[in-house]
Amino acid sequence: MEKGILNNVKAKIEEEFIISKGINYVDECFNYELIFQKLEDFIIKNLPAKYTYHSIDHFRDVVVQAERIAMMEKVEKSLVNDIKLAAWLHDVGFVWGQENHEETSAEYAKFFLKN
Ligand SMILES: [Fe+2]
Repeated sequence: MEKGILNNVKAKIEEEFIISKGINYVDECFNYELIFQKLEDFIIKNLPAKYTYHSIDHFRDVVVQAERIAMMEKVEKSLVNDIKLAAWLHDVGFVWGQENHEETSAEYAKFFLKN
């Protein structure tokens, strides 16, 4: 990933996720439901309306289907929330544009999970 893209991502999300700072991902108190809600709010607020397929409905559907498949496959319950978190984050890069959205999503996830 180009350095400029990474910088733009960090600059954009710094303010949005200031509220999540101090929540340690590996902390036993990590509140998945709170984080899911914050991610949903962030996507609703920032995702450009021009995306008809990659709308908030796509994110919600992927989360529901990921959980459904995880349960069907009898994935350990402690991992299901991690799978749902990955589903919320998988296309978040669209907030910054379609081009390289996979890489941007991964960068955002790395930043988010470290803070
Ligand atoms: Fe997707």
